[in-house]
Amino acid sequence: MAKDVILTGIRANQDLTIGNYFGAILPMIDTAKNHSDEYQINLFIPDLHSFTTPIDHSKLNKQIFDNAKLFAAAGLPLDNPNIYMYRQSYIPAHSELTVILDSFTGYGEMGRMTQFKEKSNSNNDMVSVGLFNYPVLMASDILLYNAKYVPVGDDQTQHLEFTRDIAQRMNKKFGYIFVIPESVSKQHEFFGNDQGLRIKDLIDPTKKMSKSDDSGRGVIFLNDEPAVAAKKVMGATTDDKAEINFDRDNQPGISNLLEILALLRGVRLDDVIKEFKGHTRYGDFKSVIANEVEKFLTDFQQKLGNIDENAVIAKLEQSERDMTPVANETLLRAQQAVGLRPKD
Ligand code: TYM
Repeated sequence: MAKDVILTGIRANQDLTIGNYFGAILPMIDTAKNHSDEYQINLFIPDLHSFTTPIDHSKLNKQIFDNAKLFAAAGLPLDNPNIYMYRQSYIPAHSELTVILDSFTGYGEMGRMTQFKEKSNSNNDMVSVGLFNYPVLMASDILLYNAKYVPVGDDQTQHLEFTRDIAQRMNKKFGYIFVIPESVSKQHEFFGNDQGLRIKDLIDPTKKMSKSDDSGRGVIFLNDEPAVAAKKVMGATTDDKAEINFDRDNQPGISNLLEILALLRGVRLDDVIKEFKGHTRYGDFKSVIANEVEKFLTDFQQKLGNIDENAVIAKLEQSERDMTPVANETLLRAQQAVGLRPKD
């Protein structure tokens, strides 16, 4: 019997942050390491998604490759045949299925997507149709490979819900085409979380730490100089309560730092809360995290420097060869369903 598929993608548009790392890369790689016997693991680079908002195109190609290297540095076992790492645009079925699904997606439905609303508001440049139908391409990414589990950060859950909706809609109208991914709550259960992770900006802890942030002062990038990143932690916004408590609403900065520390140490949040609850010296608390960040980045960047680039290219190319027929099979079912191809 075919194995259940666990799939996720991380855009290559700018340098990745610890939010991407702990929200998506690490859970996926832990799963890949621990469960590749039971599941098929697809980790891909959604390169077509990378320019739904404006980017410097002269850097894209390198960025795509750098991201692949980064997955390897984060521990993705490249020699495991149950694990696939590929580039979206190298498998044309992604684009083709998107065009089909576009015609079954409501204009209003896309306009209601929180991420579209946020990005189209905050951006002075042209708001592109690509940004608008971004979730449809994302649905294709997931549905083409019959994925059941899709580990993503909290900001992507609405897109995952849409993926389920469009798949159910198509199956209802045409009969079976797509495997429906599990509901968001089942996903969290599967990955052992009570909710999607959302690391916050260090300067404005009410908003997500995001690679598209302009100043970068509140963002820890994976390629930050470790000492610079430590300084960013020391400059993190806290509050005037002068007592450490985990309270996302009233102490968002402190709570975010507690979460980051738990992730860096690889321990449960409760353990870190127990250790620091009631402490009053924010500066000391920040230095602990600054040290951990510095250690983490030094170690990670060293690993990145030692990656065998040829092995990464070989993995990408092999996975693209292996996944093309899988994607084409699903595409054909969709083409047959809508009448573009004869049914067998
Ligand atoms: P992207 O590239 O914006 O982000 C990649 C992943 O990182 C998570 N993430 C965070 N998690 C916790 N805290 C943060 N501060 C934080 N910032 C980012 C995101 O939730 C995401 O999981 N649309 C996707 C890429 C994509 C995709 C897919 C994912 C395209 N097709 C199919 C899964 C399946 C995106 O833009 O993620």
